[in-house]
Amino acid sequence: MTEQIPTIDTGRFVLRCLTEDDVTDRYISWLNDPEVTRYLQARNSKHNHDSTLAYVKNHNNIDKFLFGIFDKSKDMHIGNFSLSVSLVHKTGIQGVMIGDKEYWGQGVILEARAGLLDICFGELGLFKVNGLPLASNLPAVFNYKRQAWVVEGIQSKQYLCDGKRVDGIHFSMFRDFWLEKKHA
Ligand SMILES: CC(C)(COP(=O)(O)OP(=O)(O)OC[C@H]1O[C@@H](n2cnc3c(N)ncnc32)[C@H](O)[C@@H]1OP(=O)(O)O)[C@@H](O)C(=O)NCCC(=O)NCCS
Repeated sequence: MTEQIPTIDTGRFVLRCLTEDDVTDRYISWLNDPEVTRYLQARNSKHNHDSTLAYVKNHNNIDKFLFGIFDKSKDMHIGNFSLSVSLVHKTGIQGVMIGDKEYWGQGVILEARAGLLDICFGELGLFKVNGLPLASNLPAVFNYKRQAWVVEGIQSKQYLCDGKRVDGIHFSMFRDFWLEKKHA
């Protein structure tokens, strides 16, 4: 199925579906870095080659996708978007991890997620996409707001993070809004 999802070139970055060959020590090291996984589910497990390979293979490119973000100038893997799709409702939930911390603070998300949304609302024909950051993940929340995602709701004290209960925020992006914004 991967061949149905094209590689997306966003300018500085390329997005493509990850394959087994992308499971490198570099990628696995991000999953075991507490700073990278501070706000992610991945922080609750130890990761190795087998577990990461199983995770990558669990994405069928039908309703579960794992897009690698690659620095085009170096052909280097720097992070991922995960995307779970409801084929019935034409909605998706996406998450992001920039694993290579050298790339934090460089506007990677705003550029790369625009490419992801183009795939969601183009090839995948989705109506709406959600993002579900922890409220305490200030850079992540900032990026959603900056990209004009709408806050649809707050899950009060939904998560335990850094020993405290924190809210979850439901952000949404609608196809019509995205296309209008893009062509404005
Ligand atoms: C979350 C993540 C994608 C953000 O990466 P990034 O966009 O490069 O992060 P930045 O440090 O540039 O922060 C983004 C914005 O938030 C702002 N910000 C960062 N920390 C902040 C803080 N403590 N208070 C207020 N604003 C803050 C920054 O000023 C920045 O805005 P700017 O571009 O105008 O300077 C990245 O940190 C990451 O992948 N982390 C690990 C995985 C993760 O947490 N994923 C998100 C799951 S929802």
